[in-house]
Amino acid sequence: DYTPTPADKFSFGLWTVGFRGNDPFGAATRPELDAVQAVQRLSDLGAWGVTFHDDDLFGFGADEAERERILARFRRALDETGLTVPMVTTNLFGHPVFKDGALTANDRDVRRFALRKMLRNVELAAELGARTFVAWGGREGAETDAATDLRAALDRYKEGIDLVCEFIRDRGYDLRLALEPKPNEPRGDLFLPTVGHVLAFIDQLAHPDMVGVNPEVGHEQMAGLNYTHGLAQALWAGKLFHLDLNGQHGAKYDQDLRFGAGDVKSAFFTVDLLETAGYTGPRHFDFKPLRTDLDQDVWTSAEGCMRNYLILKDRAAAFRADPRVQQALHNARIPELSQPTTTPGEKPEDLLHADGDFDPESAAQRSMHYEHLDQLALEHLMGI
Ligand code: GCO
Ligand code: MN
Ligand code: MN
Ligand code: MN
Repeated sequence: DYTPTPADKFSFGLWTVGFRGNDPFGAATRPELDAVQAVQRLSDLGAWGVTFHDDDLFGFGADEAERERILARFRRALDETGLTVPMVTTNLFGHPVFKDGALTANDRDVRRFALRKMLRNVELAAELGARTFVAWGGREGAETDAATDLRAALDRYKEGIDLVCEFIRDRGYDLRLALEPKPNEPRGDLFLPTVGHVLAFIDQLAHPDMVGVNPEVGHEQMAGLNYTHGLAQALWAGKLFHLDLNGQHGAKYDQDLRFGAGDVKSAFFTVDLLETAGYTGPRHFDFKPLRTDLDQDVWTSAEGCMRNYLILKDRAAAFRADPRVQQALHNARIPELSQPTTTPGEKPEDLLHADGDFDPESAAQRSMHYEHLDQLALEHLMGI
């Protein structure tokens, strides 16, 4: 009946169910949500984990005593519900001090402050047993290319991430970093805009093994890209350390709809990939309940994320198990793609002179039968 349990490994950011509905044109429509209440409600719904930015829990600039008080209450709620904290992240975008970014701000004092805020939060993440530390660039970016030095900004980005890795190693924490790409918003252009940019950036780092990607559905789709393809390449590279599931309608502002809303066909193939590729990490939701909705409707939205995942998992499994689909996959030559293109021992020189009888004209006459296969996928998705 699509009721989630902790075994499904669903996790939510405190800032998601706690989103108050403020946007660039209007004020908040909902009251503040207490973190302890969020933990209890999420646990009641069958979630497994809760994640947060430092500022979601403490508020910017809270002193040591205030942090301890809030943390003690939060820990009690975790103990009572059994909810885990699989991931922690840092708010390096909310306070006006970060108006020009954090690790790549032109102002060196701001960069040093941002790194201290991150290191402090790494300590907290380790203390709470989190295994993943997400770094979304927030305001790392520009509105005008006159206002930055793009290559120096990348140097500083690398320096910052390398320093955080060094700290994790020095302290002996069991923690990995996951960089979250986004093409724009809140800046006109953000650095590390897509999964591909992040994967290439990781190769330049001092400790590439400690750093992976945290791809978000809407962010790839804002860039006009196929989210499932991005996930697949991250998996292929061994870099899918975490993910942010939500919904988006194409290239426009970051909608952060509940998972399944937006491009549901893409969501079907995303779940199919995750469930068949052996991804064992958290199924983390980073969404914003619509600002039109209050009270219980926020939890209906959270529940919808999990239900949609489970429904799509069920539909994708039915698709894979259907004998008509297996025949259609065969007719579409999908298994053939797993066959290496060359024969063992075959050299480029051999290939150059091989297949003398291959006729491109007749090969071009083979239909791939993708229409039928895709129709079967759609019918399973639609529940027929
Ligand atoms: C966005 C981002 C953020 C980050 C979060 C973690 O929608 O722009 O997804 O929500 O994921 O702040 O740092
Ligand atoms: Mn996100
Ligand atoms: Mn987003
Ligand atoms: Mn978000």
